[in-house]
Amino acid sequence: MLVFRQVHKAYATPQGPLTVLAGVDLVLAPGESLALMGESGSGKSTLLHLAAGLDLPDAGEVSLAPRPALLLADEPTGNLDETTAGEVLELLLALVRDTGGALLVVTHSPRVAAPLDRCLRLSRGRLADDRSPEPLA
Ligand SMILES: Nc1ncnc2c1ncn2[C@@H]1O[C@H](COP(=O)(O)OP(=O)(O)OP(=O)(O)O)[C@@H](O)[C@H]1O
Ligand SMILES: [Mg+2]
Repeated sequence: MLVFRQVHKAYATPQGPLTVLAGVDLVLAPGESLALMGESGSGKSTLLHLAAGLDLPDAGEVSLAPRPALLLADEPTGNLDETTAGEVLELLLALVRDTGGALLVVTHSPRVAAPLDRCLRLSRGRLADDRSPEPLA
């Protein structure tokens, strides 16, 4: 569905290159939902842009299966109240279930991440498993 192999991405800045992704490996299987968390500036949106084909990696490979649908969402419920946010998330999850697609959601909210199959955290350019006992904010 979505495969990252040793993906590297840096941005040119006046202070020199800023490495954002430093060899990211990721496999998202059909039917799977994934929450991507991490501090502001850790590179979540960068990763999502690569997954969407909006930008290219400096090194490594991003392999995309054209079908079924891969849903990519960057803070999809950020401005919604809790009830509406829950409903939107349910819709996205139902869509993935019904179509055999996959869902990748970038979020700062442990509540949004909780119902998804997996949660990964992006930090210092790398992905790590994250089902941390972080308090629900
Ligand atoms: N086009 C660009 N040129 C230079 N630096 C960039 C560019 N886009 C992003 N960055 C920098 O790359 C880093 C990662 O940015 P990114 O937007 O991917 O983070 P994020 O995890 O989505 O953050 P947030 O949670 O605030 O949305 C940040 O330090 C950001 O300032
Ligand atoms: Mg972002």
